[in-house]
Amino acid sequence: MKSNSSVSADRSRVRFALIGTGHFAPWFARYLNEVGELVAICDPSLEARARFFEATQLALPEFDDHEKLLAGVDFDAVAVTGPNHTHKQVTLAAAKAGKHVFCEKMMAPSVADCWEMVRACEAASVRLMVGHKRRLRPPWSRMIELRRELGEVVAISAIGYFDARNEGFGGWWTREAQSGGLLALSGVHELDWMRAMCGDVLAVSAIAAPSIDPRYDFSDSIQVTLKFRSGAVGSLGVSLSYPLLRYRQVCGAEVVTRKGGMRLVSSFQHVDLSWRTFEDDEIRHERCKAMGDDPVGVNEAFLIELGDFVRWITEGSEPCLTWREGLRCVELVEAARHSAKQGGAWISLPLYPAWEK
Ligand SMILES: NC(=O)c1ccc[n+]([C@@H]2O[C@H](COP(=O)([O-])OP(=O)(O)OC[C@H]3O[C@@H](n4cnc5c(N)ncnc54)[C@H](O)[C@@H]3O)[C@@H](O)[C@H]2O)c1
Repeated sequence: MKSNSSVSADRSRVRFALIGTGHFAPWFARYLNEVGELVAICDPSLEARARFFEATQLALPEFDDHEKLLAGVDFDAVAVTGPNHTHKQVTLAAAKAGKHVFCEKMMAPSVADCWEMVRACEAASVRLMVGHKRRLRPPWSRMIELRRELGEVVAISAIGYFDARNEGFGGWWTREAQSGGLLALSGVHELDWMRAMCGDVLAVSAIAAPSIDPRYDFSDSIQVTLKFRSGAVGSLGVSLSYPLLRYRQVCGAEVVTRKGGMRLVSSFQHVDLSWRTFEDDEIRHERCKAMGDDPVGVNEAFLIELGDFVRWITEGSEPCLTWREGLRCVELVEAARHSAKQGGAWISLPLYPAWEK
């Protein structure tokens, strides 16, 4: 274990332990230290911990097992940033130890896992939030807001075709039982944003395309159709094997509303939002630009979700996200998997009515 001397004794700040120090963790640690204080890390991989310290220049107590971390250091909340299939085990242990849980998306590979996490946190009276930040990034949250002017959404569509070969999706990401499958790699952000735009989903149908990349134990292209309870229809296409675009160039969307429509086009440098009502003479535009190391509004979204998580703990104020968004997204992903295995059959939600309160 490294020296603990750099940990401040400021008890007015929420103290976090970060569990999982892979690719995402150094980036995320910055935000934890803005809204609270990161006091320890945990990862079974010595190399991953070393890379984390190298990238962040932090010196903190380090552990190779979450049970040792929970027993060995005093803190308030865990940030769960390990592989998706480890989220449940870590969350159950953290809840049992009385720690609040901020869990990265995807919450878990299955809805059954999600409900176990929810019940454990409820039983321990600790907070459980899942980090679905897309709806909080300014261009996407602006579209949610624009519904006031443009009316209710009637149709929504997004295509996420990109080249995943150099995006770090190896190892556990390639196995459906560990990641949750294709939509866990890409699509779950868009699904959460579509829920924010249209409300809960009534039924899901999905068709998987023939596989191109043999690294994955699931098809690497899928087409998903959604029927929302509001009557709106949604469409999401995802492919990991489209060599024309990189990941962050693909999060565009088209939205038809009762009084007009919106369009979002994304690139590395900016996100362009356009909209028009049937009464407007011209299309209106807004551009959100990347700032410094912030790819179009990511910093802001992380600080909103984590700031809300901290205030939920310290003040009990209503947060922008809870576990519900996380569970509903896993439900959509699981329903799409079921449907694809049945050649596109409609799957009604909720998937497990008996588990709902
Ligand atoms: N919100 C976002 O935009 C966003 C972006 C990237 C990743 N993520 C999420 O963050 C999580 C991690 O993604 P990543 O890209 O960093 O993955 P990664 O594979 O790079 O890192 C995962 C790390 O977890 C470690 N690990 C494995 N088992 C563990 C355990 N039981 N306890 C603690 N650590 C364990 C691994 O050794 C590895 O270092 C995923 O859930 C992913 O979906 C979210």
